[in-house]
Amino acid sequence: MAEVVDVVSGRGGELVLRRDGDEFEVIANGVFLMDTRNGESERLLVTGAADRLGPGARILIGGLGVGFSLRAALDHPNVGEVVVVEREPAVLAWNREGPLRAVHGDALADVRVTVVEADLVAWLRETGETFDALCLDIDNGPEWTVTDGNAALYGDSGVDGLAERLRPGGVLAVWSAGTAPSFTERLRSRFPDVRVTEVPVPRGEPDVVWFAKMSGR
Ligand SMILES: C[S@@+](CC[C@H](N)C(=O)[O-])C[C@H]1O[C@@H](n2cnc3c(N)ncnc32)[C@H](O)[C@@H]1O
Repeated sequence: MAEVVDVVSGRGGELVLRRDGDEFEVIANGVFLMDTRNGESERLLVTGAADRLGPGARILIGGLGVGFSLRAALDHPNVGEVVVVEREPAVLAWNREGPLRAVHGDALADVRVTVVEADLVAWLRETGETFDALCLDIDNGPEWTVTDGNAALYGDSGVDGLAERLRPGGVLAVWSAGTAPSFTERLRSRFPDVRVTEVPVPRGEPDVVWFAKMSGR
């Protein structure tokens, strides 16, 4: 039986951190968001992108969750710098000095990591920064967003905006809990190289990760 560790009113609604034995779960507005049990597809989101890049890559991870993607980035030989964009102060606190810190070995303290506390959708519109990879896992998928505002990321102008933040040869990686054929088509109409990878899970539909690579390097 899971015990509640913390309940906060976050920027995207109610957030609950629960402990079940040695594992932790994050619940957003009553819907399961993330737990510490597996993480295979969350790691692949980053390693699959970094495998397609050269050494010293600058990558963006949005959002932090329980830090599986961040840990995988820091452990990858091609990653030189990581910018984490996360909108929930409580998620940052649970990972910095709370119980999630042990999940990734205090990855936020790594000198290669910069944390931006912001809404990723708004931040991407405003920033002029560019990256070798954008590794995005802020929703259950392009067709099942956790908040309405996140949907803008996956539409025509959202994907155009993401492409503008990529350097030549850069990779857009997107995580989803299921397939989204129209999103695949949107990527294929803009990127010369699009791979769709399915990762089996113990129950239900496989997780899906898209890797869309720009031409250039
Ligand atoms: C499923 S979790 C990410 C899991 C992560 N890949 C990992 O390895 O643990 C989604 C994260 O995105 C954050 N998030 C959701 N919408 C966001 C937004 N618009 N901007 C920034 N972060 C957001 C949530 O607070 C949560 O921390």
